[in-house]
Amino acid sequence: MSRRPNTRTLLVVWHSASGGTRALVEAAVDGASDPAIDEIGALVEVRMVEALHAEVEDVLDADGFLLATPENFGYMSGALKVFFDRTYYPCLDHTRGKPYRLVVKAGGDGAGAVDAVVPLAAGLGWRPAGEPLVVKGEVNDGHTDAARELGGSLAAGLALDLW
Ligand SMILES: Cc1cc2nc3c(=O)[nH]c(=O)nc-3n(C[C@H](O)[C@H](O)[C@H](O)COP(=O)(O)O)c2cc1C
Repeated sequence: MSRRPNTRTLLVVWHSASGGTRALVEAAVDGASDPAIDEIGALVEVRMVEALHAEVEDVLDADGFLLATPENFGYMSGALKVFFDRTYYPCLDHTRGKPYRLVVKAGGDGAGAVDAVVPLAAGLGWRPAGEPLVVKGEVNDGHTDAARELGGSLAAGLALDLW
């Protein structure tokens, strides 16, 4: 994939069955796409790819990651697990040091999904650029505001090469 010079790519890998996670992802992408971010440093291209369609090349081409999943059966969604199954080893040692954030949408405390994703990201050598955002219950404006801020701060860090 060709990249414009002085561009950073934020890859958003997400899954949502009933729309809750998707609402958070869309808010995060909105925050990451704030035109003001492009004024402060490198241009940030945001790529939102559903987990079942995200490929190894998408990961290798990215400078940072936003992972978003519901908690299903005490774990990350099957779709995000399949994403890691397909990309983990081909990307191992090629994406170390890159920043990521995690968004979990759950009915309860989301700890099972967080505890599933964080060790895999650590195994890849990805660096957490902040705490996971865990949203319990119905998505409200406070949740989407938090997701928007998360996306904005991750993109701003990429624009400034902070991570
Ligand atoms: C099959 C299934 C399993 C679930 N398992 C859990 C769970 O283990 N823990 C939890 O907190 N919520 C669980 N939930 C609730 C979902 O995390 C919650 O409905 C979430 O908002 C779904 O996200 P989505 O709207 O993006 O699909 C489960 C929901 C489904 C459909």
